[in-house]
Amino acid sequence: MGMNGSPPPGRRAAVVAGLRTPFVKAGTDFKNLGAEDLGALLVNELVARSGIAPKEFDAVVFGQVIPSKTVTLIGREMVLRTQLPRDVQAYTVDRACATSIQAATDAADQINLGHSSCVIAGGTESLSDAPIFATRTLAQALVEVSRAKTMAERIKIFTRLRPRDFTPEPPALKEPTTGLTMGESAEIMAQKNGISRAAQDAFAYQSHARAAAAWEAGRFDGEVMHVPVPPRYDKVSSRDNIVRKDTTLEALGALRPVFDRRYGTITAGNASPLTDGAAALILMAEEKAKALGLKPLGYVKSYAYAALDPSDQLLQGPAYAAPVALDRAGLQLKDMDLVDMHEAFAAQVLSNLQFFASKAFAEKLGRPRPMGEVDPAKLNVNGGSIALGHPFAATGARMILQTLRELDRRGGQHALLTVCAAGGLGASMVLERQ
Ligand SMILES: CC(C)(COP(=O)(O)OP(=O)(O)OC[C@H]1O[C@@H](n2cnc3c(N)ncnc32)[C@H](O)[C@@H]1OP(=O)(O)O)[C@@H](O)C(=O)NCCC(=O)NCCS
Repeated sequence: MGMNGSPPPGRRAAVVAGLRTPFVKAGTDFKNLGAEDLGALLVNELVARSGIAPKEFDAVVFGQVIPSKTVTLIGREMVLRTQLPRDVQAYTVDRACATSIQAATDAADQINLGHSSCVIAGGTESLSDAPIFATRTLAQALVEVSRAKTMAERIKIFTRLRPRDFTPEPPALKEPTTGLTMGESAEIMAQKNGISRAAQDAFAYQSHARAAAAWEAGRFDGEVMHVPVPPRYDKVSSRDNIVRKDTTLEALGALRPVFDRRYGTITAGNASPLTDGAAALILMAEEKAKALGLKPLGYVKSYAYAALDPSDQLLQGPAYAAPVALDRAGLQLKDMDLVDMHEAFAAQVLSNLQFFASKAFAEKLGRPRPMGEVDPAKLNVNGGSIALGHPFAATGARMILQTLRELDRRGGQHALLTVCAAGGLGASMVLERQ
């Protein structure tokens, strides 16, 4: 690395291709597919469409946030279940909702260092196939039963169990240290930052309107593959099914709050929904892309991760990470042609934007001035996770791909990406087109 953090000549990390599945509401089109199935379908299609010979790949970095019952190392599965040669090394990353940002920055690091030259980075998620856990009492009883020698012993163990021991425990979107769900934490942020229900609904409305317009205008064509729907394969999923072209502010305003039913402001309409989907990118050393005659979609310029105490404003990580990513790029917010912020909740986006512009927050960070106001015309211009959906591990790769293609359409040069994640984590990247 040079003094200013720039990679050696030829080792800049280029994003040469990307693809995602449609993002669909959990329990719908992909309910019979596991995350590993979705991921493998996607990686195969991505490699085939790229025209890059499978032997050129030397690593896979992949993530999955909610584990599958049968797969423990999703990264390696993306090699073993696809046409990639068996000697492509692979591993799994997890940074909650920023997982495929992590996959992409890991790939970029390896490329910068010269350890890899052509890497697949992405993530896959199935909320339809989330493991349902047995209670501790039932699990212990089942282990004891398997060790019991006689039928009488087995029956005795079972008679100890009560109906409540059979209640399944779904994975909770809960912060283990605070006991609060993501939604409850976002509700606290809305209160502390004075984000009104009307402002949240207006933001959600815009997310849907922009995502619907993007589909209508064909802007997602070429970045979303088609998936035949099992078990009968008589239907093809070709579009995101959460985007609502016809949603209105009135309809959004009529929804009941879900996380604080009495005084709350967060509803199914202004939160990201539980989603199935996969997204991946091909990153390559600039010199290799050139040698293969490929035209990159863009490049990774810089990135930063940050964290705050989860008992503070849990989803405010972007406000901590973004200024550092900009510093590392040697750029400012005003230099950005696009800003893409993951939408966990409208309340979280609006809270982060508020902190971006806050003098008091800049002081808290020990910075001379705030990052500034984001121009709404540059923010999430083709919609975000509220309308498109949020398959946790796939969202980062979806954002990178969507943003780079839009940057190209606009002839822009720089974009800022941010993602908030569980544990009070924040991720941010600066992308450049040329
Ligand atoms: C918020 C949440 C609980 C809602 O789940 P749900 O109740 O299954 O949501 P639904 O899609 O069924 O929506 C509920 C209702 O709102 C309606 N609705 C949702 N979005 C709407 C919109 N944009 N416009 C109009 N109506 C809408 C639905 O039609 C549905 O109405 P119905 O009950 O009459 O059918 C769930 O999506 C959730 O947990 N999200 C948060 C995920 C999270 O924590 N992410 C972490 C991010 S880091």
